[in-house]
Amino acid sequence: MRSTVVTLLSFSCGLVHGQGTPDFWQPGGPDDFRGPCPMMNTLANHGYLPHNGRNITKDVVISAMGGALNFDAALASLMFDQAIHINPEPNATWFTLDQLNVHGILEHDASLSRSDAFFGNNHVFNQTVFDETRRFWTSSVLDPNQLANSKIARQISSKAFNPTYTFTSSTEQFSLGEVAAPVIAFGDVFTGAVNRDLVEYFFVHERLPTELGWSRKTSVVTLNDILRVKDMIHNATSLITEAPPGCPASKRRDLHSGGRLYQRRA
Ligand code: HEM
Ligand SMILES: *[C@@H]1O[C@H](CO)[C@@H](O)[C@H](O)[C@H]1NC(C)=O
Ligand SMILES: *[C@@H]1O[C@H](CO)[C@@H](O)[C@H](O)[C@H]1NC(C)=O
Ligand SMILES: *[C@@H]1O[C@H](CO)[C@@H](O)[C@H](O)[C@H]1NC(C)=O
Ligand SMILES: *[C@@H]1O[C@H](CO)[C@@H](O)[C@H](O)[C@H]1NC(C)=O
Repeated sequence: MRSTVVTLLSFSCGLVHGQGTPDFWQPGGPDDFRGPCPMMNTLANHGYLPHNGRNITKDVVISAMGGALNFDAALASLMFDQAIHINPEPNATWFTLDQLNVHGILEHDASLSRSDAFFGNNHVFNQTVFDETRRFWTSSVLDPNQLANSKIARQISSKAFNPTYTFTSSTEQFSLGEVAAPVIAFGDVFTGAVNRDLVEYFFVHERLPTELGWSRKTSVVTLNDILRVKDMIHNATSLITEAPPGCPASKRRDLHSGGRLYQRRA
């Protein structure tokens, strides 16, 4: 079965999945499918996924994510299962990168590097949008706070200016995973820190940042790593802080909040 896939693919594009390497890199050409996911595009550019962006099966995803990023098979398999319904064919066993472009299924508003579908192309890298995101990446090592700030800023911008802004609680879960993803691939899954240059290079070039000194993690990435970093980002999305030390927080609460003041006015 697998050898059949390999044979057909090598006919169609001369490059077989599973032969990906950090050294081989070629952007998609006019007949190659690419989508809204900077990492899926990256893996196709390196040949870890079929370079033409088609016939992405579970086996292919497992070998690509394992080979490029050291994801364990269970994690890669789960990610495939969450995406396969994007192929409208019943019981489909593969999807293509351009199927990911359909707005409102997996693709959503307020992305870090793509325009909302309402304003234009929802799946190619958009420098204007990415510049908005980068404004919140204020130091050379990003942390969950900066990543969360950029996510919220993009949502505020969409909510303010896109009359069709849609962001469900299920979108929120995917979005937190996406914002955590750069940490998963290029950063520290225990502190949530990630080098900004690596992240920017990846988004802009859709290429693994090997020439900046990055290399595949030596420890296997599991679902627990993703859940931990997602939780860090989620925690950092809160806009509420502790009171500064020494400030009589309880008094302030009496003055400004609560029923009393409000009820008197009513
Ligand atoms: C089966 C595997 C995967 C599928 C089907 C997939 C699909 C998608 C889709 C549809 C989006 C667009 C969401 C939006 O509208 O912003 C997206 C965004 C994203 N994905 Fe993936 N993805 C996969 C794996 C990964 C992996 C392994 C990483 C990195 C570790 C990753 C990193 C990202 C990032 C950073 C974004 C956000 C892009 C932005 O907001 O501009 N993805 N992905
Ligand atoms: C690859 O996908 C195309 C549709 O995009 C399909 O027609 C073809 O049969 C698939 N090839 C393999 C090897 O699965
Ligand atoms: C899809 O799978 C279900 C459950 O296995 C089966 O009942 C159904 O006939 C399949 N549909 C097609 C079009 O193969
Ligand atoms: C980039 O995104 C902005 C904001 O959504 C949009 O106005 C602009 O047309 C997009 N640029 C391209 C080249 O699609
Ligand atoms: C997120 O916040 C909760 C509640 O304060 C805390 O229990 C949890 O450990 C935090 N998660 C991470 C990963 O820091």
